[in-house]
Amino acid sequence: MDKLEKALQKAREDRERVLSAAPPPLEVAPELEPAPQPVRTMTRPLSPTELERHRVVVRSGKGENIDLFRMLRTKVIQMMESANLRTLAITSPQYGDGKTTIAINLAMSLALDVKQTVLLVDMDMRKPSVHEFLGIEPELGLSDYLLRNVPLSDCLVKPNVDRLVVLPVAGSLQDSSELLGTPKMARLAAELKTRYPDRIVIYDMPPLLTQDDTLAFLPQVDGVLLVVRDGVSPISQVRACAESLAGRNFLGTILNDSRFSA
Ligand SMILES: Nc1ncnc2c1ncn2[C@@H]1O[C@H](COP(=O)(O)OP(=O)(O)OP(=O)(O)O)[C@@H](O)[C@H]1O
Ligand SMILES: [Mg+2]
Repeated sequence: MDKLEKALQKAREDRERVLSAAPPPLEVAPELEPAPQPVRTMTRPLSPTELERHRVVVRSGKGENIDLFRMLRTKVIQMMESANLRTLAITSPQYGDGKTTIAINLAMSLALDVKQTVLLVDMDMRKPSVHEFLGIEPELGLSDYLLRNVPLSDCLVKPNVDRLVVLPVAGSLQDSSELLGTPKMARLAAELKTRYPDRIVIYDMPPLLTQDDTLAFLPQVDGVLLVVRDGVSPISQVRACAESLAGRNFLGTILNDSRFSA
């Protein structure tokens, strides 16, 4: 046996020794839970300029509008606590009534209360705007979760506001009218409600009278608030919404942009 053959033989013997001494491979018990995935939620700082431009007033500063949102927050907390509600949808008759403005200010106002953790969900996949109002550019969002099976944790964004998490929509989907009524969306709504017992979920919805699936989704939430814009929402449309919501989980109306002081 020459030197090279001897060396190869020794290496083979060493390898066999190591393999025979190694412990048997671990068997994974089928009943064991899979290991928790690392949290991949993106952290994003908010843009003060965009917040100001979009009338997100709650985060900083003082003023009459902040007091109004504090009052709204107190009423919402009282209603939710007394009836043990955890999820809330904000809708309105038409586009531009102020749903997103109110949903974001309310979510931030709730998150400023140290007892509340808030998840704000942009449900308007055709015209998403929560991310624009906050000045963040999400890479993934709700439509990626629903259509491409991207894990939810990858779609969430953590802005630099304590106790607030956002599920945005990245991009827009013109043909999204069926998505809110899908079983996957219903499962997500049920999961968001039960998974974190101390969390309030706020859904910024599309308008009620222009998109069929808004009404289809509303049974998945505990309560619905209707935003009406003073001097803009015609009474016939407010009536139509009230009729659609009657006998459901309708909590009340918010008069936005009111000419009357509180
Ligand atoms: N109380 C208010 N005073 C002045 N401007 C307001 C008020 N509420 C909302 N706006 C402005 O009106 C516009 C529409 O508001 P917003 O986007 O919140 O409405 P929306 O109901 O979410 O609209 P869409 O249906 O298109 O999503 C925005 O430019 C917003 O800054
Ligand atoms: Mg909106």
